[in-house]
Amino acid sequence: MTAMTRSVEMTQVTPWREAVVSVDQFTPSDIGEIFALAGRMATDPGRPLLGRTLANLFYEPSTRTSSSFHAAMTKLGGTVIPINEVHYSSVSKGETLEDTVRTLACYADVIVLRHYDDDATERAVAVCETPIINAGNGVGEHPTQALLDLYTIQREHGRLDRLTVTMMGDLKYGRTVHSLTKLLRMYDVRLNFVSPDSLRMPPQYRTAADAEYGELSEVIADTDVLYVTRVQKERCAEVPTSDVSYAVTLEDMRRARDDMVLMHPMPRVGEIPAALDSDPRAAYFRQMKYGLHVRMALLAEMLGGEGG
Ligand code: NCD
Repeated sequence: MTAMTRSVEMTQVTPWREAVVSVDQFTPSDIGEIFALAGRMATDPGRPLLGRTLANLFYEPSTRTSSSFHAAMTKLGGTVIPINEVHYSSVSKGETLEDTVRTLACYADVIVLRHYDDDATERAVAVCETPIINAGNGVGEHPTQALLDLYTIQREHGRLDRLTVTMMGDLKYGRTVHSLTKLLRMYDVRLNFVSPDSLRMPPQYRTAADAEYGELSEVIADTDVLYVTRVQKERCAEVPTSDVSYAVTLEDMRRARDDMVLMHPMPRVGEIPAALDSDPRAAYFRQMKYGLHVRMALLAEMLGGEGG
């Protein structure tokens, strides 16, 4: 059985409250519930997870995902076991992912896992009954990032329908755009993909209705949401840097709509100059704050607390 077949089977059978593997597990009604709770989390979270423990297990670098899960858990009254640098754990002694996950399951009520292998989440879910949350599996998915991205779009535009979303950057190796593309298909959204030839969106995430472009200038004026990503250089060493240079410019922003929303999962490495940060359409720091509330809502739902 291939990793892809196993993944499809798992996302069909596992309810998201038991393990978050892929955005495929969520319906628009689930998403509506999570977003309503996220809104309440901003003002009145309560401490529904008092006495519960989250383990953060990160085999790849992270700033936002690990610290927002940490903050989300502690704001809800829970505690965190942070293994953000596996090299200082028994992983460096050769311990398998399976054994590490089963170990943490003895101490924690939920495990947030980021790993460089596409099948890591499935392998973890297969060996433990403690809920696992996929915080990025290789080039596969990043479901909680996609949920917070969608929530950002809803908060900024006030709707999730009748929108044109343009994704620009490394659409081949970026897992955030893979998950977000799948989620946006549930709504009346038109998708544009702008990328260098070597970093096009893989066919399994595209439909005939999508439009592909080489330059942002071709679509900027018709865009409601511009979602930019960095080149995932740790995953595409063979792509020459000279082929993959792109950035949003002041001129692009001048041509963009007054209510366009500029997003980025971060970190940025030159795709959006700091000079754009003061533009009210630049939403990437607000996006992080929305992400905290979405992760709080997800944890409260998964661990049984309702919050508020
Ligand atoms: C993303 C990731 O890890 O996929 N980071 C994040 O979680 N915000 C995007 C990236 O690293 O480029």
